[in-house]
Amino acid sequence: MQGKLLYAQSGGVTAVINATAGAVIETARKHGVRVLAARNGIIGALREDLIDTSKESAAAIAALRHTPGGAFGSCRFKLKSIEQDRARYERLIEVFRAHDIRWFLYNGGNDSADTSLKISQVGKALGYDVTVVGVPKTVDNDLAVTDCCPGFGSVAKYTAVSVLEASLDVASMAESSTKVFVIEVMGRHAGWIAAAAGLAGKSADEAPHVILFPEIAFDEDAFLARVRATVERVGWCTVVVSEGVRDKEGRFLSEVGTRDAFGHAQLGGVAPLVAQLVKDRLGYKYHWALPDYLQRSARHIASKTDLDHACAVGKAGVELALAGRNAVMPAIIRTSDAPYRWKIEAVPLARVANHEKKLPKGFISRDGYGITAAARRYLEPLVRGEASPPYGRDGLPKYVRLKNIVVARKLPEYVIAD
Ligand code: F6P
Repeated sequence: MQGKLLYAQSGGVTAVINATAGAVIETARKHGVRVLAARNGIIGALREDLIDTSKESAAAIAALRHTPGGAFGSCRFKLKSIEQDRARYERLIEVFRAHDIRWFLYNGGNDSADTSLKISQVGKALGYDVTVVGVPKTVDNDLAVTDCCPGFGSVAKYTAVSVLEASLDVASMAESSTKVFVIEVMGRHAGWIAAAAGLAGKSADEAPHVILFPEIAFDEDAFLARVRATVERVGWCTVVVSEGVRDKEGRFLSEVGTRDAFGHAQLGGVAPLVAQLVKDRLGYKYHWALPDYLQRSARHIASKTDLDHACAVGKAGVELALAGRNAVMPAIIRTSDAPYRWKIEAVPLARVANHEKKLPKGFISRDGYGITAAARRYLEPLVRGEASPPYGRDGLPKYVRLKNIVVARKLPEYVIAD
C-alpha cells in the first residue's frame, strides 16, 4: 500500500500499552504498510523525531506484548484549539506530508482522543488526506462509550491481589502490632481502580473494609467511626483510598501543587494523611502504601482479558485506518457478563473526546464504603486470566528494549515553544 502509518503513545502508560503497539505494527506489516512511531507522542511528531519500526525484528515486536512502559515514549502535551495552535497543527501536517503519512493512530485517553479529533479536522481543512484513529488506553478506565479501557484490567488485578495479600499480612500481626493498613490507588477523578480493590473481599469482614471513592465526599467523623467499628469487630482494618478523594467543599485531600499540560492537578500522597488521621484520632498503629507507578507498570500480574483487549484495539485501529474510517476509535463493547463476551466497534471520536466516565452510583454500596454486586459483575471478567511474561535464568522477566532507529529528517528543525 502507498503511504506510511504513524503510531504514537500519549498520557500515562500502562502494563499493556505496548501490547497495543505490537498489534498495530504486526497488523500493519500483514497489510504491507510501514509503521513509523513518534518518539514521546505528539512531541516527536512535531519535532519530526520519528522511529522506523521496520528496523525491529518480528521477535522484538512480539515481545512488546509482554513488556510494560511505553516503548516509544509517551507525553503529556496538549494541543489547544485549532485557532489557538494553528502553527502546530500545520507543522504536523507538514511532517505527515514530508513522510507520506496517510494514517495516524494516537494511543491515549480522553485528552488524546480530543487531539486526534482536531488533527483529523485540520488534515481535511489543509487538503491533506490523512485518516486519524484514536486508540484507547488508560488505567483510569474513564473513557466514554467503551465498556472498559485497555490498561485498566491489569491495574485492577494488581490492586485487588495486593489488597488481598497485604491484608493477610495485617491480619497476622494485628493483635500486638499494626491495626490499620491504608493503600492509595490511582484513578484521578474516577473510582474505578478503587472499586476494583473491592474484589479482594466478598463479605463485610473481609478486606477491604473501607473504600474511599472520589465520587463520595470524605466525611472524617463517619470514616473514623467506620474504622473503629471494624477494628473492634474484626481486629484490624484495610482502607483503600483513591488519590482523587475530595472533601465536602470539593478540594482534593492531597494535591501536590503541580499541574500537567492538560491542567490536571498532580495527585498523590493521600494515604499518609489518612493513616495519620487514624493514628491521631484513634491511636491505632498503621502502615500505608502508595503503589503509584508500580500499579500501572505491573505487567507480571497483568490480566489476560486486558491483554486481549489491548491487542484487539491495536489490530482494529489499523484495520479501521486502512479502511479510511477517519475520526473514530475502536471501542470495547460488552455483549454478555456471564459468560463474558465482547466485541470491537468503531465509535466517533467526538463522543469520546474530553468526556470523563465516573463510577456509576449503582456500583457503590449504600454506605459509600464498598462495591455492589453490579460492580462485581462488571469488574470480575476484566481481571480474569493470567498472562505472565517469560522469565529468564536470572529470575527476572524478559522485557524488550527496541533499537528505536530514527528516520532521516526532511524538514528544518522545529522548536516547540511554550
Ligand atoms: O494516566 C492516568 C494516571 O495514571 C492517573 O491515574 C494518575 O493520576 C496520573 O496518570 C499520573 O500522571 P503522571 O505520571 O503524568 O504524573
